[in-house]
Amino acid sequence: TANEMWGGRFAAGPAAVMAKINQSISFDKRLYAQDIRASQAHAAMLVAQGIIGAEDGAAIRRGLDQVLAEIEAGEFRFDEALEDIHMNVEARLAQLIGPSAGRLHTARSRNDQVATDFRLWVRDAIDRHSAQVQALQAALIDQAERHAATVMPGFTHLQVAQPVTFGHHLLAYVEMLGRDRGRLADCRKRLNENSLGSAALAGTSFPIDRHATAATLGFDRPTANSLDAVSDRDFAIEFMAAASVLSMHLSRLAEELVIWTTDAFKFVSLSDAFTTGSSIMPQKRNPDAAELVRAKSGRVIGALVGLLVMMKGLPLAYGKDMQEDKEPTFEVSDTLDLSLAAMTGMIADLKVNEAAMRAGTARGFITATDLADWLVRRLGLPFRQAHHITGSIVKLAEDRGCGLEDLSLADMQTVEPAVTGEVFEVLSVDRAVESRTSFGGTSPAQVRAQVAAARERFL
Ligand code: ARG
Repeated sequence: TANEMWGGRFAAGPAAVMAKINQSISFDKRLYAQDIRASQAHAAMLVAQGIIGAEDGAAIRRGLDQVLAEIEAGEFRFDEALEDIHMNVEARLAQLIGPSAGRLHTARSRNDQVATDFRLWVRDAIDRHSAQVQALQAALIDQAERHAATVMPGFTHLQVAQPVTFGHHLLAYVEMLGRDRGRLADCRKRLNENSLGSAALAGTSFPIDRHATAATLGFDRPTANSLDAVSDRDFAIEFMAAASVLSMHLSRLAEELVIWTTDAFKFVSLSDAFTTGSSIMPQKRNPDAAELVRAKSGRVIGALVGLLVMMKGLPLAYGKDMQEDKEPTFEVSDTLDLSLAAMTGMIADLKVNEAAMRAGTARGFITATDLADWLVRRLGLPFRQAHHITGSIVKLAEDRGCGLEDLSLADMQTVEPAVTGEVFEVLSVDRAVESRTSFGGTSPAQVRAQVAAARERFL
């Protein structure tokens, strides 16, 4: 049988595989709340503009309320033959209120409907994820405060570089996540326009009020061009782009957790709640959640690329290709829900092994830069020359198999006769860390100030 929504000119129904490839209800049912909300706004506007009668409007309003209640109660029967959420809702409305339901689709199309519903859905997702990112920032800031003076090796090239504080390291992620929230907020601003009332592509001859539906749905304004409004998916792409950068940050932090929990490092341990055992090796505590956060960033980035490729060849205006926008967007959002919750849990529960972190600073001549800086400050040498001298002193210590602080003054003076005993003060890791008081630097005092500032800026 022909489709009850659009089958007027059709004698026969679709092939089974046509119905299967064409349907989106299996996934776009997730838009039900947004679809009904937009329909309610549209119907109220049609009544206010005198386009449909008040009685039809009231019947539609009550009917849509009931459809919403049925879906939320799990009593709604979604029908694949009705293709998508828009037609499923409208068909049920017709069963409930009769011919008045047919007036709801006046001055609109599924093309502006889906664009509107999807904008509302992505907007909700952005708001939820922004709050989740903020919760992760809060967990990081709390740990940073606890560990404002906990020294650890800082790395470049994953080689020991200079001592830093663990709090300082964690606050680096707070900054990244702050920019991620900024990107989400920025995307939300551009997204927040009302596509409803663009109809199929050209607008409508009915005297609709798009400013009214914009206000009802919390949009800042109506979209300025109806062709653009039904064929634009920038908002989903921007959301995925912001999600990709965010996921990349989560993945880097996850990777650090994996490294820090290894036997070679033992800098931190994850709680039982966020580790798994091995079925064969009884001693194991595996950082599976961190590994999965790292891995899932691939899905998010892949979804972004998939949507960009899907869109790039589409002529204006709507094409059914665009129905493929939803699953990857949902997947991105579902992945963020999981990854952000798992990461926040891991960070909140994190136990820091301060002794192991400190032991890590005993390797790699970690205060060599402090020695070079001392030569500049006390002997007035150009930094390049100080760098060279320090290199020779490091070589000496390396040959002896000892640390810089284990060399005698006489040893150092064989390289640079002007060195005095005072130099040993700057070779201590705590001194090195405490001395880095430049704005944004790693000293405990700076980190405490950064913690307070981060609370102001982000929480
Ligand atoms: N299910 C469709 C989608 O997600 C809704 C819009 C269909 N419009 C159309 N003219 N076939 O894109």
